[in-house]
Amino acid sequence: MGAPLSELEIPGLPLFRRGKVRDTFDLGDRLLMVASDRLSAFDCVLPDLIPDRGRVLTALSRHWFARTAALVPNHLLPDQPAVVPADVWERIGDRTMLVVKADRIDVECVVRGRLAGSGWEEYHSRGTLADEPLPPGLEFGAALDPPHFTPATKSDSGHDQNISRAHLRSLVGEEVAARLEALSIALFRAGREGCLAAGFDLVDTKFEFGWVGGRLTLIDELLTPDSSRFWELAASRGGADPQGFDKQPVRDWLSASGWDRRPPAPHLPPELVVETRRRYLEVLRRITGISL
Ligand SMILES: Nc1ncnc2c1ncn2[C@@H]1O[C@H](COP(=O)(O)OP(=O)(O)OP(=O)(O)O)[C@@H](O)[C@H]1O
Ligand SMILES: [Mg+2]
Repeated sequence: MGAPLSELEIPGLPLFRRGKVRDTFDLGDRLLMVASDRLSAFDCVLPDLIPDRGRVLTALSRHWFARTAALVPNHLLPDQPAVVPADVWERIGDRTMLVVKADRIDVECVVRGRLAGSGWEEYHSRGTLADEPLPPGLEFGAALDPPHFTPATKSDSGHDQNISRAHLRSLVGEEVAARLEALSIALFRAGREGCLAAGFDLVDTKFEFGWVGGRLTLIDELLTPDSSRFWELAASRGGADPQGFDKQPVRDWLSASGWDRRPPAPHLPPELVVETRRRYLEVLRRITGISL
């Protein structure tokens, strides 16, 4: 298995969804989720692939699903190479997860251990987080102890909308809302511990859940750099403006390039592709010990 993957067609298998990163195929009661090497920034898929990125995202998700299985059931099934032709499996096996198709709860279960991203934006403009007041005077990157659960609604088109915990209760009911929050916080704590051991600070992350035969089940990807912010521990303790570990050089380069953020995005310089790939491989190696 080797060549970078841009887009995948599998003869005879209908597409469930082609997202910015994953091509997901519909197997009836199961899904085959294939992580490509596409990279998006500022909500736009870039014209260059980052070789091995899909393998890194898949190996990280598998690592965390195994590590958190005692906390909550998840959608991952044992590999079954025979669901696709042998030559296809040869190409995609190590970037693929076979999962149970769930009845998705259309909520992003975000947990924040520090004030960054849209959490920081809300606090900065209104002094609240998920509509609940926080103490005044907090700075960007301030630690939130205990971590805060800040849900958002999932929209298939356009941007996710941050909501309050009260709003979540009105959407899914008191009992399910409480379970989603408790599970998300427990998963965040487990993730933060694993990241700390790897020298990363887990700043925030999002989980998705669904129903499988009446059981609340963890779905999608888990604790990857696409669903989370990992900061270098040293940097976030130093009080400097810490940089996202993985895509930040790409975002910085795109910002400096003068691109107006409307598709198509410009090609990245080859050395930036190499550096970005190196960062993804480093995240994987430090967290799981796996070297690709
Ligand atoms: N077990 C599952 N059952 C049903 N749906 C799932 C399951 N696991 C993940 N999904 C959904 O499948 C989709 C995975 O696709 P992908 O990650 O490429 O898209 P996305 O994250 O929604 O969009 P994008 O990556 O373009 O921002 C998501 O919509 C996710 O909610
Ligand atoms: Mg996704």
